[in-house]
Amino acid sequence: MNIRQLLTDKVQAAMIAAGIPEECGPVVAPAKKAGFGDYQANGAMAAAKRMGTNPRELAAKIVEQLDKGEMIEKAEIAGPGFINLHLSEQWLADQLSAAESDSRLNVAAEGEPQTVVIDYSSPNLAKEMHVGHLRSTIIGDALARLLEFQGHKVIRQNHMGDWGTQFGMLLAHLSDKLEKNDAEVALADLEVFYREAKIRFDEEEGFDDRARDYVVKLQSGDPKCLKLWQQFIDISISHSEEIYDKLNVTLKRSDVYGESRYNPDLPVLVDELLEKGIAVRDQGAVVVFLEEMADKEGNPSPMIIQKRGGGYLYSTTDLAGIRYRANKLHADRILIVVDARQSLHLQQAFTAARKADFLPESVTLEHCAFGTMMGEDGKPFKTRTGGTVKLADLLDEAIERAQKLVAEKNPDLDAAACAEISRKVGIGAVKYADLSRTRTNDYVFNWDAMLSFEGNTAPYLQYAYTRVRSIFRRAGLEPAELTGAITLKTPEERALAIKLCQFGEVLEQVARDTYPHVLCGYLYDLSSAYMAFYEACPVLKEGVSEEDKQSRLRLCDLVARTLSTGLDLLGIEVMEKM
Ligand code: ARG
Repeated sequence: MNIRQLLTDKVQAAMIAAGIPEECGPVVAPAKKAGFGDYQANGAMAAAKRMGTNPRELAAKIVEQLDKGEMIEKAEIAGPGFINLHLSEQWLADQLSAAESDSRLNVAAEGEPQTVVIDYSSPNLAKEMHVGHLRSTIIGDALARLLEFQGHKVIRQNHMGDWGTQFGMLLAHLSDKLEKNDAEVALADLEVFYREAKIRFDEEEGFDDRARDYVVKLQSGDPKCLKLWQQFIDISISHSEEIYDKLNVTLKRSDVYGESRYNPDLPVLVDELLEKGIAVRDQGAVVVFLEEMADKEGNPSPMIIQKRGGGYLYSTTDLAGIRYRANKLHADRILIVVDARQSLHLQQAFTAARKADFLPESVTLEHCAFGTMMGEDGKPFKTRTGGTVKLADLLDEAIERAQKLVAEKNPDLDAAACAEISRKVGIGAVKYADLSRTRTNDYVFNWDAMLSFEGNTAPYLQYAYTRVRSIFRRAGLEPAELTGAITLKTPEERALAIKLCQFGEVLEQVARDTYPHVLCGYLYDLSSAYMAFYEACPVLKEGVSEEDKQSRLRLCDLVARTLSTGLDLLGIEVMEKM
């Protein structure tokens, strides 16, 4: 159920009945201030301007035509022509009852499900996974969960960087280690392995030539070399999987579709673009000149798809990827979750793919860009010594820090319970700190802020959940045992009811716009509405009528379920106690 959509449909119908042209939208949104109804329709002003009439009079005509049905209690005109819409209490209570008996909480599944390909995480296997991949992994996974919940067919694509010249030095180093029989040990810590290979490449006489030789062999498909490469890739993927497990991320090995998978298609693709006249040879390289993206002087934006000497590039693979996803995976929508600094690259790839007719026009290409994770010093996040932060270490530190907090808050927990809760709190804090920021912005990574039990944080929401659940323990009741009707007598109950009913429209918004912070903001507001309700409306206190108690407990249960469902869509776990 989507209140906003239902009201939009009603007001739109009234506008048409009032003789307003169909293109004039009703502009319905939740009311920003108390006392102005629950929702507002603000479309009368723009429509009046267009029709050259008085906006208040036009608003009155719309209200006259409005079919209020069971949903709308009253519609009032305010200011220059706002229409304030008050929802009926009975209708709200009915919606909540429907949510109670529905495992989807009265959130309708998408009527026209799409196939959505989401490219996320996508680390480069010739390097250690770094914090940039953390953001992509967290944001991408939240979007995948949410779109799946909405009923879409989601295809996860872990576009791992598993190919390229950097593998030369790694393979040369690996073959030496294998000869000495200590490859297993060396690969246990990839960070060290990469570093050793790089040092040898930079310093050791002759090693660079051997590395280059390996690149040539790899590219020409030398079986021995490919076997070595495969060995390295397998181990690298296992390292990523450890991170995914720890992070509670849904990516599986079967979601890996690395750059190397596109190798056979790259020469075909380049030939095709040359034939179509979309790419041209330029100083030995093959280039697509994009007039569509010309600069101020009118110079087209150049996108190299084959280097002089024949090598292919990141851009070539991305073009092949778009074509594969649209035509083989039959995507309706392709999301690529990657750093905002890759905007130009992706815009070029999208423009070239359209120009080459690689995908039906109806398929959308979306770059879900995100900003940089910064340290306290306002510079990109690094270790104290300026190195890249190992993700595994970062996550371990989160859990360790959470453990201290959890032990302080609840000293009676046994060790196993404490460890389990700390894992959920620590990982939840890292993920939520990322997801709750507008993803396109940079943000400062701050342990104390993300682990705080106050404010818009994971621990705050997880704690709110445990508090709601504890009421049922105190009442000695299970939600399934509740009887009676939901009544919304006080303003706090009413405000909470409306918040609960907005879950569906928030999910629809995030599914459409791909900004998870909107869901975070909603869950935070829901918790705040719950706190206000809890202050004002006693649930288990003596003197509360049985009828009120039952009704309020039912609201509590819906809050708990909405919080846990919402957090789960963000990839964050809840617990009964903390
Ligand atoms: N491996 C790339 C990187 O680490 C990210 C890949 C994103 N996906 C894509 N189709 N370009 O920067």
